[in-house]
Amino acid sequence: MNEKKAEPGTFVIFGGAGDLSRRKLLPALARLFERGDLDRVHVVGLSREPIGDDAFRRIAADALVQAGRPPNVVERFCHRLHAHSLGRNGDDGYHSLAARLTAIEEIHGLPQNRVYYLAVPPDAVTQTSACLSAAGLTSSRGFTRVIVEKPFGRDLASAETLNDELHRYFQETQIYRIDHYLGKETVQNLLVFRFANSIFESLWNRERVRAVEITVAEELGVGSRAGYYDKSGALRDMVQNHITQLLTLVAMEVPSAFEAQAIRYEKIKVLRSIAPIDCEDVVRGRYVAGKVNGIDVPGYLDEEGVPAGSETETLVAMRLAVDTWRWQGVPFYLRSGKRMKSRSTQIVVHFRDVPVSLFRNVVSGLDTPDVLVITVQPDEGFSLHFDVKIPGQPFRLQRVPLSFKYNQAFAEMPEAYETLLSDVWHGDQTLFVHADEVLESWRIYTPLLEHPPPVVPYVAGTSGPPEADRLTASGKGLWTPE
Ligand code: BG6
Repeated sequence: MNEKKAEPGTFVIFGGAGDLSRRKLLPALARLFERGDLDRVHVVGLSREPIGDDAFRRIAADALVQAGRPPNVVERFCHRLHAHSLGRNGDDGYHSLAARLTAIEEIHGLPQNRVYYLAVPPDAVTQTSACLSAAGLTSSRGFTRVIVEKPFGRDLASAETLNDELHRYFQETQIYRIDHYLGKETVQNLLVFRFANSIFESLWNRERVRAVEITVAEELGVGSRAGYYDKSGALRDMVQNHITQLLTLVAMEVPSAFEAQAIRYEKIKVLRSIAPIDCEDVVRGRYVAGKVNGIDVPGYLDEEGVPAGSETETLVAMRLAVDTWRWQGVPFYLRSGKRMKSRSTQIVVHFRDVPVSLFRNVVSGLDTPDVLVITVQPDEGFSLHFDVKIPGQPFRLQRVPLSFKYNQAFAEMPEAYETLLSDVWHGDQTLFVHADEVLESWRIYTPLLEHPPPVVPYVAGTSGPPEADRLTASGKGLWTPE
């Protein structure tokens, strides 16, 4: 949590009663309120249709109870909620919003500190920003910040346009492009793990590392989001943002300071070093009917809302190279899929084997170099796997883990959105994505979007198509979810 007490102000949510707001934003704000971090912040939920304060408070209260917030917190927090309708007439609604914000600020003695969370469809981001600007809401006597949700563009060209348009209305220092993976404790811990512990950093290079795998596997299918997902697919939905963020944190050099600019600079350097990806090194998959956790699930094409003949992928696996001195020759394997065997986000670092095995004549099948598994979720933690001698005779070795589990060491893990919303309020951009970072990431993947490899099927509830296994150089199935 941020050390400094947060200034008072107003947090404005576009889509205040919408799904993201109910599931993530309001519970996170309530938690920050409860902890005394954002306890002097009022929340304005915006909608097209008139809702009214009472109805909005009821919607919020239901969501907070579901999220497990205690009744006294729900009640106190709800007093700080206000609803406002933008109506359907464009600019007028924004002028009335300006008047409403001023009124709320006057009544509650708040300075003009304002954060806008644009939980709106991607194609509405520019228009919303333009309307805010026309109503004089993009600057104030306090601070004004805007949070933009992913997807940030569909490819390099559209992301460039979106950046340019946003920069017409906001300075880069006002823009917070959110990637919720960066708010996860275990993702933040990657920097600590690497740069606060000299033992790992000294192994973190091509001399010692044979390959790195990053897997984000989900059990869930597309659910009710086919309308969005079918236009997106796994590459845009997960790889271009979440997985690429994990990759930059694993591959980056040590930043000159623990602050936003220095960290973003190193991440951008990694992205610029990624060699063009060969189509041969990419597998796109789509789940067909199968069983997940013993329950029958339909294939992607039979999910509600998926258009017939869809060519969208629900899994991407790829091999890429980070052409830096540190990583030259080390393959990075990235993989993300829906309806996989289990939910697991892991970074697996495969270390090189010993140059000559002392035990090769005594023990057979000794082909297991050391592995570090960083589990981002669930069951957060990490484990280092290495060989030990099994006590007694005959002489045999066994792979054992040296493990650390967050839930055994710490009482609670804040939700990603808690951390991120608090950081926005405190003006810390470290965990947000810079304009250049977005562009560099699209630069890597846009050629694949323009010339996508064919989609191959995989059975729901498995670890993906066999084609993905063949990507791994050893051919021995390097993918290793625990
Ligand atoms: C979102 C994607 O950004 O991340 C979803 O749009 C995905 O498709 C989700 O399910 C995964 O997030 P988490 O935190 O559950 O790993």
